[in-house]
Amino acid sequence: MKGLVLSGGTGTRLRPFTYSMPKQLMPVANKPVLHYCLENIRDLGVTSVGIIVGQRGGQVEQAIGDGADLGLDLTYLFQSAPLGLAHCVTVAERFLGDDDFVMYLGDNMLVGGLADAARDFAARRPAAKVLVTKVDDPQHYGVAELDAEGHVVSLTEKPEHPRSDLAMMGVYFFTPAVHEAVRGIRPSARGELEITDAVQRLVDSGRDVTAEVYQGYWADTGGVRELLGCNRVVLDAITGDVRGRVDGTSVLTGPVVVGAGTEIVGSRLEGPLTIGAGCVVRNARIGPHTAVGQNCQIENADVQESIVLENVHVEGVRGVRDSVIGRGARVRGTSCGSGAQRLLLGDQASIQVRSA
Ligand code: DAU
Repeated sequence: MKGLVLSGGTGTRLRPFTYSMPKQLMPVANKPVLHYCLENIRDLGVTSVGIIVGQRGGQVEQAIGDGADLGLDLTYLFQSAPLGLAHCVTVAERFLGDDDFVMYLGDNMLVGGLADAARDFAARRPAAKVLVTKVDDPQHYGVAELDAEGHVVSLTEKPEHPRSDLAMMGVYFFTPAVHEAVRGIRPSARGELEITDAVQRLVDSGRDVTAEVYQGYWADTGGVRELLGCNRVVLDAITGDVRGRVDGTSVLTGPVVVGAGTEIVGSRLEGPLTIGAGCVVRNARIGPHTAVGQNCQIENADVQESIVLENVHVEGVRGVRDSVIGRGARVRGTSCGSGAQRLLLGDQASIQVRSA
């Protein structure tokens, strides 16, 4: 079996971050989402993995490399425009050849892995197998209707009136039968070649398509709320590991990870949290559920339930919460008497400041 990971697309719901980086590189507990996805595939014993990348493919390649660290042999496959998930299968057709493959959307997090689903696919070998999970808002996903035995009856992409509350997750197991199905579909109303339509085509042609209700934690991290929620869940399972220097006046509670070369001075760290290498944290309170990237400086500040990317300075600001702060950002409190706020916000930025 091969792997096919989708790491192109536009990431509009994660703007402004995705103006300068692919969404699959957004960090959860200081590791790119894409990294977790590759680890899950590696844990299936799959080694040959194709990664679909778009215009920002160079950044993906720089962050992930050739996969040797992960025990994977990665092949980067360039998609010139985000024409849909089924289009990605077409781009990868030569790479995939006649092999079965697991297709995995690079912004999806499955905490708990895929081993059971992969085993079942290999044993029963239906034409396709999809993973589904119950959600409150099925209209935002591909929606599956199943029969009593778990066979797929119908699939609809983001329907206005969903026929069930089972969302398709971003993991699909395919035999090579999917290639002919992909060749037979046309772009949807939103102009994309939908994988949902290709799988429906397999169902319509009488092929066996099964679904499994996933039991572990799943998130599509394509939005800020989901990314922060996932950060919380992953941090809840970490074990502490302090490599940096913590002075005698600082207090650490719960599982705390502090990277090499980081200095913690006069601060309170409330785990679970992780702070990358090369940071300075002074007179600050950080955590719980907070991930701070490398080379950040946090002084006289209070940051909770947040994701802070690398090279960020936060100084003199209290009550930072449920926030995502992008690479190289500066957040500085002011004691300016007029009560004025000075804001330099990029396109599509979103902030909430205390009202007067
Ligand atoms: O997350 C689960 C949902 O993912 C499913 O319920 C839907 O059926 C499925 O269509 C998909 O919906 P999204 O709207 O979330 O897909 P998104 O555009 O975010 O793309 C998913 C991943 O694939 C993401 O990592 C970007 C990548 N991608 C997307 C497109 C359209 C590509 O690499 N190339 C593309 O052309």
